[in-house]
Amino acid sequence: MNFSLLTLSSNAVHSHKADALVILIPEGLKPARGPLADWLTKQLKSGDFSTQVGFQVSLFDAPGWSAKRVCLIGIGPGGAAQVRQALTAAWGALKGAKPEAITVWLPESTTSLAGPAMQTLADASYVFTTTKPSAKPRTLKRITVAMPDAVKHKTEFARQQALVEGVEWAKEWGNRPANHATPSMLAKAAQSLGKQRRMRVQVLGPKEVAKLGMGSFAAVAQASTEPLRFIVLHYNGAAKSKSPVVLVGKGITFDTGGISLKPGAGMDEMKFDMCGAASVMGTFMALAKLQPAINVVGLIPACENMPDGRALKPGDVVTSMSGQTIEILNTDAEGRLILCDALTYAKRFKPRAVIDIATLTGACVIALGHVRSGLYATDDGLAKALETAGEAAQDLCWRMPLDEAYAEGLKSNFADVANVADRAAGSVTAAKFLQRFATDFPWAHLDIAGTAWKSGAAKGATGRPVGLLLHYLLSQSEAGKR
Ligand code: BES
Ligand code: MN
Ligand code: ZN
Repeated sequence: MNFSLLTLSSNAVHSHKADALVILIPEGLKPARGPLADWLTKQLKSGDFSTQVGFQVSLFDAPGWSAKRVCLIGIGPGGAAQVRQALTAAWGALKGAKPEAITVWLPESTTSLAGPAMQTLADASYVFTTTKPSAKPRTLKRITVAMPDAVKHKTEFARQQALVEGVEWAKEWGNRPANHATPSMLAKAAQSLGKQRRMRVQVLGPKEVAKLGMGSFAAVAQASTEPLRFIVLHYNGAAKSKSPVVLVGKGITFDTGGISLKPGAGMDEMKFDMCGAASVMGTFMALAKLQPAINVVGLIPACENMPDGRALKPGDVVTSMSGQTIEILNTDAEGRLILCDALTYAKRFKPRAVIDIATLTGACVIALGHVRSGLYATDDGLAKALETAGEAAQDLCWRMPLDEAYAEGLKSNFADVANVADRAAGSVTAAKFLQRFATDFPWAHLDIAGTAWKSGAAKGATGRPVGLLLHYLLSQSEAGKR
């Protein structure tokens, strides 16, 4: 998507040329003079327009207006959520005309909402075409953000533009079916990111992973004919001496459950089980665009979870890189088995924070649905920073508990720890398992099982939580400057 930023005052908006012009109108908007002011005064008086969220009036080839289509739409009190709702509706009305360029005009009081406006239009117009040649490719090519004082918003505009690219990267790889997104293909994609400035990517295979002693990760991968990959991304935007933030993304390119096989219905959606990995790559994509002053490491254990003659069996005991032995009571709880070794590997970077992102548990979907990701953290400052970033990016999360009592069910008679407890609080017990390996650094875990993709008619990856992660990292790079 191409974006541009334009200064346009309310008394000139009528003379802006475009395929489509969307004018956002909050409660109490009072443009001084000009066709927009005249129109609004009349329409409000006659009751033919209302500023309630999503109320819209469309004009086509209207005298006095230079844009072919003008859509005037209410955004109520004018928050981020209202802009999202209104622009989704506006796109619904406009998309039939297949505009190649859209301009969104934001009045003075709402210029801080350029971000939600850009994200919403990009999201609504996105089309996945990689494995669907018959799909009509995206016709919308350019989004212009117009406002009275655009110069002040340049930095935010650039961030949002990079964020769209990161989100679209995450969607693309999330949406690819498992035979078009194998661990090796993910690694190649990561290597392509490695060509950008201040970026470096290393890829380890089965031999190196065995040598590192990642017995837990290797065990999950052992039944697949697709060899595992351990992907290490580096973005070095600050001095070498500055400790990095480490992002760890679950990269199960397909989760059958293994010998603890999942039911057949809906199993196709387990191609999305690498959305954590895709969100890490998408975040690096945005970092490469923005070049902030921060060091970030990305770790992606990638493999398939398959049943086979060589597969893990319930009751098998494996030795993790940390030295802790794990009794695998359920082979479908494989995400934690690959993440634990990546968390141990993270120690070598002496990180100032480690955040893992994983489609980890169905239980998290039961707890929080599709609105907020589950957040677990051993450090209150880190938790707060991630919550704040989620609010800013409208990519919400909700903090969950880590009381020691939740770890009770993970006790095993045959190993240091079992990989599952009973059904109760399944998202929390999964986090408690990971916490055993997240020693020596502040740690947070995002369970994105409910937020990384949508099911049903709108089935597809959402690109979450790239927005949250990018906001967090940029806030950290700014804190470093002070
Ligand atoms: N990838 C799944 C989690 C998942 C399930 C995400 C459904 C989204 C929708 C994970 O590997 C898994 O299978 N978890 C099990 C854990 C259980 C065996 C303790 C689950 O949630 O059922
Ligand atoms: Mn599983
Ligand atoms: Zn899984």
